[in-house]
Amino acid sequence: VDLRPYNSFGLPARARRLVRIRQESDLRWVVNHPDWGRASKFILGGGSNLVLTRDLQPLVLKVEVPGLRLLDAGEDWVIEAGAGERWHDLVAWSLAQGAPGLENMALIPGTVGASPVQNIGAYGMELKDHFESLDTLDLMTGRVVTLDRAACHFGYRDSVFKQHLAGRSVILRVRLRLPKAWRPKMDYLDLQRAAEAAGVSEPTPSQIFDWVCSIRSAKLPDPAVIGNAGSFFKNPVVSEAVCREVIARDPHIVHYPLEDGRFKLAAGWLIDACGWKGKGVGGAAVYEKQALVLINRGEARGAEVLTLAQAIQASVFARFGIRLEPEPVVI
Ligand code: EPU
Repeated sequence: VDLRPYNSFGLPARARRLVRIRQESDLRWVVNHPDWGRASKFILGGGSNLVLTRDLQPLVLKVEVPGLRLLDAGEDWVIEAGAGERWHDLVAWSLAQGAPGLENMALIPGTVGASPVQNIGAYGMELKDHFESLDTLDLMTGRVVTLDRAACHFGYRDSVFKQHLAGRSVILRVRLRLPKAWRPKMDYLDLQRAAEAAGVSEPTPSQIFDWVCSIRSAKLPDPAVIGNAGSFFKNPVVSEAVCREVIARDPHIVHYPLEDGRFKLAAGWLIDACGWKGKGVGGAAVYEKQALVLINRGEARGAEVLTLAQAIQASVFARFGIRLEPEPVVI
Protein backbone atom coordinates (compact mmCIF):
# COMPACT_ATOMS: atom_id res chain seq x y z
CA VAL A 1 0.00 0.00 0.00
CA ASP A 2 1.31 3.43 -0.96
CA LEU A 3 1.22 5.57 2.21
CA ARG A 4 1.62 8.91 0.44
CA PRO A 5 -2.12 9.70 0.60
CA TYR A 6 -2.14 8.77 4.30
CA ASN A 7 0.48 11.20 5.60
CA SER A 8 -0.05 14.96 5.37
CA PHE A 9 3.68 15.52 4.67
CA GLY A 10 3.18 13.52 1.46
CA LEU A 11 6.34 11.51 2.10
CA PRO A 12 6.88 8.36 0.04
CA ALA A 13 6.66 5.11 2.02
CA ARG A 14 4.84 1.81 1.69
CA ALA A 15 3.11 -0.57 4.06
CA ARG A 16 2.75 -4.31 3.53
CA ARG A 17 -0.83 -4.33 4.64
CA LEU A 18 -3.41 -1.80 5.82
CA VAL A 19 -6.67 -2.68 7.59
CA ARG A 20 -9.46 -0.13 7.99
CA ILE A 21 -11.00 -0.06 11.47
CA ARG A 22 -14.59 1.22 11.30
CA GLN A 23 -15.87 -0.42 14.47
CA GLU A 24 -14.70 -2.37 17.47
CA SER A 25 -15.47 -5.71 15.79
CA ASP A 26 -12.96 -4.93 12.99
CA LEU A 27 -10.31 -4.60 15.65
CA ARG A 28 -11.39 -7.82 17.42
CA TRP A 29 -11.12 -9.61 14.08
CA VAL A 30 -7.51 -8.40 13.74
CA VAL A 31 -6.63 -9.26 17.35
CA ASN A 32 -8.05 -12.80 17.01
CA HIS A 33 -6.59 -13.40 13.56
CA PRO A 34 -4.15 -16.37 13.51
CA ASP A 35 -1.37 -14.38 11.77
CA TRP A 36 -2.09 -10.72 12.51
CA GLY A 37 -3.13 -11.12 16.13
CA ARG A 38 0.49 -11.36 17.21
CA ALA A 39 2.04 -9.26 14.45
CA SER A 40 3.34 -5.83 15.39
CA LYS A 41 0.97 -3.04 14.48
CA PHE A 42 1.09 0.62 13.58
CA ILE A 43 -1.91 2.82 14.43
CA LEU A 44 -2.70 5.48 11.85
CA GLY A 45 -5.18 8.33 12.24
CA GLY A 46 -5.13 11.28 9.88
CA GLY A 47 -1.35 10.98 9.41
CA SER A 48 -0.95 14.69 10.05
CA ASN A 49 1.65 14.41 12.80
CA LEU A 50 3.87 11.84 11.17
CA VAL A 51 7.27 11.84 9.43
CA LEU A 52 7.84 8.64 7.44
CA THR A 53 11.48 7.99 6.62
CA ARG A 54 11.07 4.34 5.64
CA ASP A 55 8.54 1.64 4.74
CA LEU A 56 6.35 0.29 7.52
CA GLN A 57 6.82 -3.40 8.30
CA PRO A 58 4.02 -3.63 10.90
CA LEU A 59 0.38 -4.14 10.01
CA VAL A 60 -1.15 -0.67 9.63
CA LEU A 61 -4.46 -0.11 11.42
CA LYS A 62 -6.19 2.87 9.81
CA VAL A 63 -8.73 4.13 12.36
CA GLU A 64 -11.98 5.27 10.70
CA VAL A 65 -14.55 4.89 13.49
CA PRO A 66 -17.41 7.35 12.73
CA GLY A 67 -20.00 9.08 14.90
CA LEU A 68 -20.79 12.40 16.61
CA ARG A 69 -23.22 12.56 19.54
CA LEU A 70 -24.27 15.40 21.81
CA LEU A 71 -25.28 14.39 25.35
CA ASP A 72 -26.95 16.63 27.90
CA ALA A 73 -25.08 16.36 31.21
CA GLY A 74 -26.87 19.01 33.27
CA GLU A 75 -24.52 21.97 33.56
CA ASP A 76 -22.36 20.69 30.72
CA TRP A 77 -22.64 19.25 27.26
CA VAL A 78 -20.75 16.05 26.66
CA ILE A 79 -19.75 15.27 23.09
CA GLU A 80 -18.89 11.73 22.12
CA ALA A 81 -16.98 11.41 18.86
CA GLY A 82 -15.70 8.45 16.88
CA ALA A 83 -11.91 8.35 16.58
CA GLY A 84 -12.09 8.53 12.79
CA GLU A 85 -13.96 11.84 12.62
CA ARG A 86 -11.93 14.83 11.48
CA TRP A 87 -11.09 17.07 14.44
CA HIS A 88 -12.07 20.27 12.66
CA ASP A 89 -15.45 18.79 11.68
CA LEU A 90 -16.09 18.03 15.35
CA VAL A 91 -15.31 21.65 16.30
CA ALA A 92 -17.61 23.04 13.58
CA TRP A 93 -20.37 20.53 14.39
CA SER A 94 -20.32 21.27 18.13
CA LEU A 95 -20.69 25.01 17.44
CA ALA A 96 -23.60 24.32 15.07
CA GLN A 97 -25.24 22.22 17.81
CA GLY A 98 -25.07 25.16 20.19
CA ALA A 99 -22.31 23.58 22.26
CA PRO A 100 -19.37 26.00 21.95
CA GLY A 101 -16.04 25.77 23.74
CA LEU A 102 -13.67 24.21 21.19
CA GLU A 103 -13.49 27.20 18.82
CA ASN A 104 -9.88 28.11 19.76
CA MET A 105 -8.84 24.71 18.42
CA ALA A 106 -10.49 25.15 14.99
CA LEU A 107 -8.60 24.03 11.88
CA ILE A 108 -6.14 21.74 13.67
CA PRO A 109 -5.48 18.96 11.15
CA GLY A 110 -5.97 15.29 11.98
CA THR A 111 -8.56 13.01 13.52
CA VAL A 112 -10.41 12.94 16.84
CA GLY A 113 -8.60 9.72 17.79
CA ALA A 114 -5.21 11.38 17.35
CA SER A 115 -6.15 14.46 19.38
CA PRO A 116 -5.40 12.98 22.84
CA VAL A 117 -2.16 11.32 21.69
CA GLN A 118 -0.27 14.61 21.51
CA ASN A 119 -2.78 16.63 23.56
CA ILE A 120 -3.39 19.02 20.66
CA GLY A 121 -3.62 22.69 21.47
CA ALA A 122 -3.77 26.18 20.06
CA TYR A 123 -4.58 29.77 21.06
CA GLY A 124 -4.51 29.26 24.79
CA MET A 125 -6.42 25.97 24.91
CA GLU A 126 -5.42 22.32 25.02
CA LEU A 127 -7.48 19.18 24.48
CA LYS A 128 -7.00 18.24 28.13
CA ASP A 129 -8.93 21.37 29.20
CA HIS A 130 -12.13 19.85 27.79
CA PHE A 131 -11.30 16.17 28.01
CA GLU A 132 -13.76 13.86 29.74
CA SER A 133 -12.73 10.28 28.84
CA LEU A 134 -11.94 7.93 25.98
CA ASP A 135 -12.47 4.28 25.08
CA THR A 136 -9.47 2.36 23.90
CA LEU A 137 -8.75 -1.21 22.92
CA ASP A 138 -5.56 -2.63 24.32
CA LEU A 139 -3.90 -4.69 21.60
CA MET A 140 -2.11 -6.90 24.15
CA THR A 141 -5.15 -7.91 26.21
CA GLY A 142 -7.88 -7.33 23.59
CA ARG A 143 -9.90 -5.47 26.23
CA VAL A 144 -11.69 -2.17 25.82
CA VAL A 145 -11.10 0.19 28.71
CA THR A 146 -12.28 3.71 29.50
CA LEU A 147 -9.54 6.14 30.54
CA ASP A 148 -10.21 9.39 32.35
CA ARG A 149 -8.09 12.52 32.20
CA ALA A 150 -5.71 11.46 34.99
CA ALA A 151 -5.08 8.09 33.32
CA CYS A 152 -4.03 9.79 30.08
CA HIS A 153 -1.09 11.67 31.72
CA PHE A 154 -1.51 14.71 29.49
CA GLY A 155 1.46 17.05 29.15
CA TYR A 156 2.53 19.66 26.63
CA ARG A 157 2.07 17.84 23.27
CA ASP A 158 2.35 14.60 25.23
CA SER A 159 0.29 11.79 26.80
CA VAL A 160 0.50 8.16 27.90
CA PHE A 161 -0.17 7.25 24.23
CA LYS A 162 3.20 8.72 23.23
CA GLN A 163 4.87 6.99 26.20
CA HIS A 164 4.20 3.50 27.54
CA LEU A 165 0.96 2.88 25.64
CA ALA A 166 2.61 3.85 22.32
CA GLY A 167 1.62 1.39 19.62
CA ARG A 168 -0.44 -0.75 21.94
CA SER A 169 -3.63 1.17 22.50
CA VAL A 170 -6.21 1.93 19.78
CA ILE A 171 -8.46 4.87 20.67
CA LEU A 172 -12.03 4.21 19.50
CA ARG A 173 -14.07 7.09 20.94
CA VAL A 174 -13.36 10.36 22.74
CA ARG A 175 -15.68 12.28 25.06
CA LEU A 176 -15.34 16.02 25.67
CA ARG A 177 -17.02 18.12 28.34
CA LEU A 178 -18.19 21.63 27.46
CA PRO A 179 -19.76 23.86 30.13
CA LYS A 180 -23.11 25.31 29.02
CA ALA A 181 -21.97 28.56 30.68
CA TRP A 182 -19.58 29.45 27.86
CA ARG A 183 -16.78 31.98 28.32
CA PRO A 184 -14.48 33.30 25.61
CA LYS A 185 -10.80 32.41 25.88
CA MET A 186 -8.96 35.46 24.55
CA ASP A 187 -5.58 35.31 26.34
CA TYR A 188 -3.69 34.97 23.09
CA LEU A 189 -2.34 38.20 21.63
CA ASP A 190 -3.25 37.29 18.03
CA LEU A 191 -6.90 36.87 19.09
CA GLN A 192 -6.97 40.15 21.01
CA ARG A 193 -5.64 41.91 17.91
CA ALA A 194 -8.34 40.31 15.73
CA ALA A 195 -11.07 41.40 18.16
CA GLU A 196 -9.68 44.93 18.23
CA ALA A 197 -9.50 45.10 14.44
CA ALA A 198 -13.15 43.99 14.27
CA GLY A 199 -14.17 46.46 16.98
CA VAL A 200 -15.62 43.64 19.08
CA SER A 201 -15.43 43.66 22.88
CA GLU A 202 -17.70 40.69 23.66
CA PRO A 203 -16.93 38.06 21.03
CA THR A 204 -19.26 35.19 20.18
CA PRO A 205 -18.00 31.61 19.75
CA SER A 206 -18.39 31.79 15.98
CA GLN A 207 -16.43 35.05 15.78
CA ILE A 208 -13.55 33.40 17.65
CA PHE A 209 -13.86 30.38 15.35
CA ASP A 210 -13.57 32.65 12.29
CA TRP A 211 -10.59 34.57 13.72
CA VAL A 212 -8.72 31.37 14.59
CA CYS A 213 -9.36 30.04 11.09
CA SER A 214 -8.03 33.19 9.45
CA ILE A 215 -4.97 33.49 11.75
CA ARG A 216 -4.06 29.86 11.09
CA SER A 217 -4.59 30.06 7.33
CA ALA A 218 -2.36 33.14 7.18
CA LYS A 219 0.68 31.45 8.72
CA LEU A 220 0.24 27.70 8.47
CA PRO A 221 0.35 25.92 5.10
CA ASP A 222 -2.74 23.91 4.10
CA PRO A 223 -1.52 20.28 4.03
CA ALA A 224 -3.83 19.62 1.06
CA VAL A 225 -1.71 22.08 -0.95
CA ILE A 226 1.75 22.00 0.68
CA GLY A 227 2.78 18.83 2.54
CA ASN A 228 3.64 19.42 6.22
CA ALA A 229 3.07 18.10 9.75
CA GLY A 230 2.30 21.34 11.60
CA SER A 231 4.90 22.52 14.09
CA PHE A 232 8.00 20.40 13.58
CA PHE A 233 9.55 21.14 16.99
CA LYS A 234 8.12 21.61 20.46
CA ASN A 235 8.59 24.98 22.09
CA PRO A 236 11.46 24.31 24.52
CA VAL A 237 10.83 24.80 28.23
CA VAL A 238 13.82 26.15 30.19
CA SER A 239 14.67 27.27 33.71
CA GLU A 240 14.64 30.94 34.63
CA ALA A 241 18.46 30.94 34.72
CA VAL A 242 18.76 29.57 31.18
CA CYS A 243 16.08 31.98 29.97
CA ARG A 244 18.04 34.90 31.44
CA GLU A 245 21.21 33.71 29.71
CA VAL A 246 19.44 33.53 26.36
CA ILE A 247 17.92 36.98 26.84
CA ALA A 248 21.38 38.34 27.66
CA ARG A 249 22.57 37.00 24.31
CA ASP A 250 19.48 38.14 22.44
CA PRO A 251 17.08 40.52 24.19
CA HIS A 252 14.35 40.08 21.56
CA ILE A 253 13.72 36.40 22.15
CA VAL A 254 10.01 35.54 22.46
CA HIS A 255 9.38 33.85 25.82
CA TYR A 256 6.37 33.10 28.02
CA PRO A 257 6.40 32.48 31.80
CA LEU A 258 4.86 29.17 32.94
CA GLU A 259 3.03 28.57 36.21
CA ASP A 260 5.89 26.48 37.60
CA GLY A 261 8.41 29.34 37.28
CA ARG A 262 10.03 28.03 34.11
CA PHE A 263 9.83 29.68 30.68
CA LYS A 264 8.64 28.51 27.29
CA LEU A 265 10.69 29.83 24.38
CA ALA A 266 9.26 30.24 20.88
CA ALA A 267 11.08 27.63 18.80
CA GLY A 268 9.90 29.38 15.63
CA TRP A 269 11.66 32.53 16.75
CA LEU A 270 14.93 30.64 17.53
CA ILE A 271 14.91 28.98 14.10
CA ASP A 272 14.00 32.24 12.39
CA ALA A 273 16.86 34.01 14.22
CA CYS A 274 19.28 31.44 12.78
CA GLY A 275 18.16 32.49 9.30
CA TRP A 276 16.35 29.31 8.27
CA LYS A 277 13.17 30.70 6.72
CA GLY A 278 12.83 29.51 3.13
CA LYS A 279 16.00 27.38 3.25
CA GLY A 280 15.97 23.67 2.56
CA VAL A 281 17.57 20.32 1.86
CA GLY A 282 16.43 18.64 -1.37
CA GLY A 283 12.64 18.66 -1.41
CA ALA A 284 12.33 19.61 2.26
CA ALA A 285 12.26 23.25 3.34
CA VAL A 286 11.48 25.67 6.16
CA TYR A 287 8.16 27.44 5.50
CA GLU A 288 8.64 31.12 4.61
CA LYS A 289 5.78 32.37 6.80
CA GLN A 290 6.47 30.29 9.93
CA ALA A 291 9.92 28.89 10.67
CA LEU A 292 8.53 26.21 13.01
CA VAL A 293 6.92 24.39 10.08
CA LEU A 294 8.87 22.18 7.69
CA ILE A 295 7.29 21.62 4.29
CA ASN A 296 7.49 19.28 1.33
CA ARG A 297 8.40 21.33 -1.74
CA GLY A 298 7.18 18.49 -3.95
CA GLU A 299 9.28 15.38 -4.04
CA ALA A 300 10.75 15.42 -0.54
CA ARG A 301 11.94 12.18 0.98
CA GLY A 302 11.75 11.49 4.70
CA ALA A 303 15.55 11.39 4.92
CA GLU A 304 15.76 14.94 3.56
CA VAL A 305 13.28 16.16 6.16
CA LEU A 306 15.41 14.54 8.88
CA THR A 307 18.66 15.99 7.52
CA LEU A 308 17.09 19.45 7.47
CA ALA A 309 15.69 18.99 11.00
CA GLN A 310 19.12 17.93 12.30
CA ALA A 311 20.83 20.90 10.65
CA ILE A 312 18.29 23.23 12.30
CA GLN A 313 18.82 21.58 15.69
CA ALA A 314 22.60 21.92 15.33
CA SER A 315 22.46 25.61 14.44
CA VAL A 316 19.99 26.50 17.21
CA PHE A 317 22.17 24.60 19.68
CA ALA A 318 25.35 26.31 18.47
CA ARG A 319 23.83 29.76 18.80
CA PHE A 320 21.56 29.46 21.86
CA GLY A 321 22.69 26.26 23.62
CA ILE A 322 19.15 24.92 23.39
CA ARG A 323 18.13 21.51 22.11
CA LEU A 324 14.98 21.41 20.03
CA GLU A 325 12.87 18.28 20.24
CA PRO A 326 10.79 17.10 17.25
CA GLU A 327 7.05 17.33 17.82
CA PRO A 328 5.65 14.80 15.28
CA VAL A 329 6.15 11.06 15.47
CA VAL A 330 9.25 10.19 13.42
CA ILE A 331 9.43 6.68 11.92
N1 EPU B 1 7.96 33.50 15.54
C1 EPU B 1 8.97 34.12 14.85
N2 EPU B 1 9.36 33.60 13.64
C2 EPU B 1 8.76 32.52 13.11
C3 EPU B 1 7.73 31.87 13.82
C4 EPU B 1 7.35 32.39 15.03
O1 EPU B 1 9.53 35.11 15.28
O2 EPU B 1 9.15 32.11 12.00
C5 EPU B 1 7.51 34.04 16.81
C6 EPU B 1 6.15 34.71 16.61
O3 EPU B 1 6.25 36.03 16.27
C7 EPU B 1 5.48 34.52 17.95
C8 EPU B 1 6.14 33.31 18.55
O4 EPU B 1 7.28 33.01 17.74
O5 EPU B 1 5.76 35.62 18.79
C9 EPU B 1 5.20 32.12 18.63
O6 EPU B 1 4.67 31.82 17.34
P1 EPU B 1 3.12 31.40 17.17
O7 EPU B 1 2.24 32.27 17.97
O8 EPU B 1 2.86 31.26 15.72
O9 EPU B 1 2.99 29.98 17.86
P2 EPU B 1 3.99 28.77 17.79
O10 EPU B 1 4.77 28.71 19.07
O11 EPU B 1 4.72 28.83 16.54
C10 EPU B 1 2.26 27.09 18.86
C11 EPU B 1 1.86 25.65 18.62
C12 EPU B 1 0.93 25.57 17.42
C13 EPU B 1 -0.30 26.41 17.69
C14 EPU B 1 0.15 27.85 17.96
C15 EPU B 1 -1.00 28.75 18.33
C16 EPU B 1 3.67 24.20 19.36
C17 EPU B 1 4.83 23.36 18.97
N3 EPU B 1 3.06 24.84 18.36
O12 EPU B 1 2.98 27.52 17.71
O13 EPU B 1 0.55 24.21 17.28
O14 EPU B 1 -1.19 26.38 16.60
O15 EPU B 1 1.09 27.87 19.05
O16 EPU B 1 -1.41 28.48 19.64
O17 EPU B 1 3.33 24.28 20.54
C18 EPU B 1 1.28 22.16 16.26
O18 EPU B 1 1.46 21.72 17.38
O19 EPU B 1 1.47 21.46 15.22
C19 EPU B 1 0.83 23.53 16.09
C20 EPU B 1 0.70 24.10 14.89
